[in-house]
Amino acid sequence: MVSDQEFYHIRSNFVLKLSLLIRTMKIFNPENETIDRHSQDCLDLMGGILKTEKRLCLRVLTDAIFINEERVRMRKDSYQAIKFIMEELKEKKIGEVLFTEGISPEDFREFLYLLVSNGWEMRDDGHPLMNQLVEKKIDSIAVKPFEPISIDEKLRREEVKKIYFRSIAMVKEVSQNLMEDKPLAFRKAKRLSQSMVDLVLNDKSALLGLSTVKNYDEYTYNHSVNVSIYSLMIGAKLGFSKRALAELGLAALFHDVGKTKIPSVILKKPGKLDELEWEIVKSHPTIGVEEILEFHQLAEVKPRVLFGIFDHHLYFDLSGYPTMKRKKKQTLFGRIITIADVYDAMTTPRCYRKEPYSPADAIKLMWKECGAHFDPILFKVFVNAMGIYPVGSLVQLDDDELGIVYDTNPRSELLDRPTVLTITGEGTEGRTVNLSDRDEKTGGFKRSIIRCLDPKKYNVYVQEHFL
Ligand SMILES: [Fe+2]
Ligand SMILES: [Fe+2]
Repeated sequence: MVSDQEFYHIRSNFVLKLSLLIRTMKIFNPENETIDRHSQDCLDLMGGILKTEKRLCLRVLTDAIFINEERVRMRKDSYQAIKFIMEELKEKKIGEVLFTEGISPEDFREFLYLLVSNGWEMRDDGHPLMNQLVEKKIDSIAVKPFEPISIDEKLRREEVKKIYFRSIAMVKEVSQNLMEDKPLAFRKAKRLSQSMVDLVLNDKSALLGLSTVKNYDEYTYNHSVNVSIYSLMIGAKLGFSKRALAELGLAALFHDVGKTKIPSVILKKPGKLDELEWEIVKSHPTIGVEEILEFHQLAEVKPRVLFGIFDHHLYFDLSGYPTMKRKKKQTLFGRIITIADVYDAMTTPRCYRKEPYSPADAIKLMWKECGAHFDPILFKVFVNAMGIYPVGSLVQLDDDELGIVYDTNPRSELLDRPTVLTITGEGTEGRTVNLSDRDEKTGGFKRSIIRCLDPKKYNVYVQEHFL
């Protein structure tokens, strides 16, 4: 087993040796034995990483180099090497080099010679060096074009990811505790809800991107976190205080907690539920409230959190459940969670509907239920926060390029002009383009969306672009 400390040295030494090798290749002819020696040193170090991690991904950011998501730290002896590799790759417009298991010394050398032989023109269909590797059938090495992202951006995205996945694990833990009649980790949940609030307020797009992660097997846990994200976005647009947002987030995280007490054969039944089964499913909001009350003193949980859980299926026109003798308006938290809940359910594959709706189709269909199922004003707020083409939509631009909606436009009059990450070919990352950019000469928009596409038909895995 290689320790973290050893990995740290292997990473630094690899960069050091690689810089030596490239420099030598530029000076000496290919038969020179120094090249052999440095090349073997690199391969040995690479082998140490490939053995445990199966891949070595060398990534260049504006101001740092990463190997397998770990930053290569500057040491006195490696400083020059890091700078050299960074400049060398940036000059060749390479952002990432991926070495995988099975790489041969010949492939490695061939790749480096292609790298040092200057003079290719960047084209739209991926990096020219990648095309050359494909032509030469070198499939253990891949390259991606350079994108100027700073280390802050990178670290921020990592942080967002951590909070997102921690929240999923927490919902899972709470649900399992409930199943085993153990007390809930409510304090922890509260803390996570607060971190999510900070993210929604500061870094909405990264979190929205992650909400495109739709895990079929872990549906309930993923779903709860996604519903929380969407609910918080509505709350933030409405100008809720941080405290109110944290409570809303908590209610959303636990809106379906009552389902832990419903047999999974019913929850996962692919066909139509019979009357009795349906009655059982309909009891989940009430059970949820009961469970939380049972394990917690009321002081810990605010009444509006409980009400939000209780009436998240009641609907705006009160046509949903639980059925109540005395009609009472659906609470604000309940109305918000309803919208978030239905949207996430529609855009996720389920046992009874394997093909989910695209984000844009879900919005269109939900629009028809405004005033009936959904509070029309809140729904408008939701669309305003999500955009007409929500984050994660696959779209075709008017120059025929395909892209994934990456961030919404904060200006409400430009809802149809989000930021799009263009993808060229199958899942190849490109650049982000802001569709509200105008042409200086004509004053018109440079590019526009002409339609939404089904990612499955184009073999695009949207979530991969956010992970
Ligand atoms: Fe529910
Ligand atoms: Fe739900």
